Amino acid sequence: MNDTTVLKKTELSDIPIDYSWSFSDKTIKDTSYITHGYYTYPAKFIPQLAARLIKEHSNENDIVIDPFMGSGTTIVEAIINNRIGIGTDINNIAYLLAKVKTTPIKTAELLQEFSNIEFDLQNRLNGQYDYFLKKALKVVPQKDRIDYWFKPKQKEKLSIIFARILEVKNNDIRNFFLVAFAQILKSCSIWLQKSVKPTRNQNKKIYEPLTLFLNQSKKMIKRHFEFDKILNPKIKQNIDKYRVVKCDDSRNLPCEKNKATLIVTSPPYVTSYEYADLHQLPSLWFGYLSNLAEFRKKFIGSAYKDRERIDLKSSLAEEIVTQLGENKKGREVKNYFADMLETFFEMKRVLKKGGRACIVIGNTQFQGVNILNAEVFQEQFENIEFKTHNIINREIPSKMLPSTRDSETGQFVKANDKNLKLAYPTEYILIMEKL
Ligand SMILES: C[S@@+](CC[C@H](N)C(=O)[O-])C[C@H]1O[C@@H](n2cnc3c(N)ncnc32)[C@H](O)[C@@H]1O
Repeated sequence: MNDTTVLKKTELSDIPIDYSWSFSDKTIKDTSYITHGYYTYPAKFIPQLAARLIKEHSNENDIVIDPFMGSGTTIVEAIINNRIGIGTDINNIAYLLAKVKTTPIKTAELLQEFSNIEFDLQNRLNGQYDYFLKKALKVVPQKDRIDYWFKPKQKEKLSIIFARILEVKNNDIRNFFLVAFAQILKSCSIWLQKSVKPTRNQNKKIYEPLTLFLNQSKKMIKRHFEFDKILNPKIKQNIDKYRVVKCDDSRNLPCEKNKATLIVTSPPYVTSYEYADLHQLPSLWFGYLSNLAEFRKKFIGSAYKDRERIDLKSSLAEEIVTQLGENKKGREVKNYFADMLETFFEMKRVLKKGGRACIVIGNTQFQGVNILNAEVFQEQFENIEFKTHNIINREIPSKMLPSTRDSETGQFVKANDKNLKLAYPTEYILIMEKL
């Protein structure tokens, strides 16, 4: 039943690798330039890849959309290349990141606020500790779940920092420091540092929250200066016209029909509800996770959602689902292809005739069945009046591998787990054009 040869289709894998799309010469410094370096978001785009697609397939002032914007790489590149950037993501943390990474802030105000926060925190953490702790604990949500991940002293110190950030009056500046806070949480917790899965390590070396927070803020302020320097003044003054980001579903894009020139996106993979778990720490502090189970259901490919029988518009997708059988995995993959098809219809609605959708996607495996995402997506697009403009096969240099996946379960795994299988050492860029 689970014979992988049944579902082998070699057309796309026959496409020779185009090494000019590997960006293997790019250092971490290059990929974290300007605001891209604010936060470590899993499976983030290489900014240079998004920039190249934007420049090759759109012109200045065109609308560029990312329905799965994640930390907002496409949106940042769209606005610094003088396009209008529109994006959605179902995850509140992603929305916060994308917004902060694309929001210009007046330098003097940012520096002044940082200096106030630094002064107050030195005092609160070293002086009237008990008084400020009592006040701070009143604004921390989900206390029991936070206790699961943070040792008591760490939680206290973080609470004082968090409460001070919430006192910042200017929304943009408050959000800026919330991102700095989000970025240090893992190092302050007992979350196994190298793991993307929620795993505890009671013996972990834990860092001093104030030092981490101040250093992270300084790093971000420096990057913000660089961003501010290169952003077109016209866009800076009208940022809400040039950048529209929403915490919403990819099937509900904030764009009128037939208006967009380009879509540049990397969709979630089948087990993408894991994204809900991956962002647990900041989500807990920010009160986004009152109901984790409900939150998971919103993610593309969630097996928790029941749906009517649906035409997947791909015979290959039907074949893959049949191979997996009537179980949770089969249901998950079917929901995934159905959810993605609905997103492709939404892309069709917003794109102009001749507009292009660039989808960066790799194939994976479940229980020995090849999940040929790229082939399925191409077939689905072609069945809803798109034509294939180009398909690029790109290698992902190992240092940039977004993650590794278990070959049995398809879930994120540690590098030394037994069923280790590199999830997408190569991936495709499908460039589909609306007819
Ligand atoms: C591969 S990541 C995108 C990363 C992004 N390219 C970046 O550079 O940060 C896929 C994203 O899809 C989002 N996602 C999952 N289900 C979604 C849905 N129903 N609507 C919108 N976004 C969704 C996840 O939260 C995740 O951020």
